[in-house]
Amino acid sequence: MNLEVVPQIYDGTGQASDACPPVSLLRDLGVLSATERLLSGRLVTTLRGGESYNMVYHLGVYNPETGRSSARMLREKCIVSMGAMIGKAIAEFWRNQDLARRGIAVPYAYGVVDASIYMDYIPTDRAAEVLRAIRLSPETDESQAALAQLIAIAIKLDRAGYRPRDYIRDLLYDGDQERFVYGDTGEDLGDPDPVNKSNVSTLHLLGRFPGLRDLIQEKSQS
Ligand SMILES: Nc1ncnc2c1ncn2[C@@H]1O[C@H](COP(=O)(O)OP(=O)(O)OP(=O)(O)O)[C@@H](O)[C@H]1O
Ligand SMILES: [Mg+2]
Repeated sequence: MNLEVVPQIYDGTGQASDACPPVSLLRDLGVLSATERLLSGRLVTTLRGGESYNMVYHLGVYNPETGRSSARMLREKCIVSMGAMIGKAIAEFWRNQDLARRGIAVPYAYGVVDASIYMDYIPTDRAAEVLRAIRLSPETDESQAALAQLIAIAIKLDRAGYRPRDYIRDLLYDGDQERFVYGDTGEDLGDPDPVNKSNVSTLHLLGRFPGLRDLIQEKSQS
């Protein structure tokens, strides 16, 4: 991943600048309710993925019903791979919803417009740090809780017949809610198979943390 920070754009007039999706689109997607007002909108960063170009927006929102203002972060993931990009975006959105239905936490996805998926951005991602901690100090409460989540996600993916390339690589760790969320439901996840269950993700987990083999086996069988 190549993180590139772009200049912040904010026009100060209470209108979204050109660098933010239009208010009408934000309303259609449900990012803004019918009564909420957009106070500010700016592009904070762009992220380059292997199959996408991502824009991350910071939105200032006023809710006249509560009299409160709040901040919201939105990610626009634009699929840029070769061919059938709109179909790929729709498939990725569908998988995000499928995982949510199966009890795997995902960033909330609002919808698809052309080849772009709009979803919540998680500004507190700590996946790399938490995975390192599981390897180096598996006995801590945080590592144990995180490992239990990795096992639970692997079991749900296997039951659904998903055969992802590397499910751990596609997880984010939401530092606020202290949980893994499935951030990238793109082609690397593949599609579920209701007939042939899988063991790809539990095997992947065992391979990734060989020192924890006994613990993982014990927990995944209980
Ligand atoms: N909801 C999110 N909140 C915070 N960061 C995110 C979110 N979704 C993605 N990211 C970051 O953006 C990067 C690119 O996103 P993503 O992996 O979905 O793109 P991709 O094009 O599918 O890339 P890949 O080649 O890894 O499949 C991720 O590595 C992750 O660090
Ligand atoms: Mg991907």
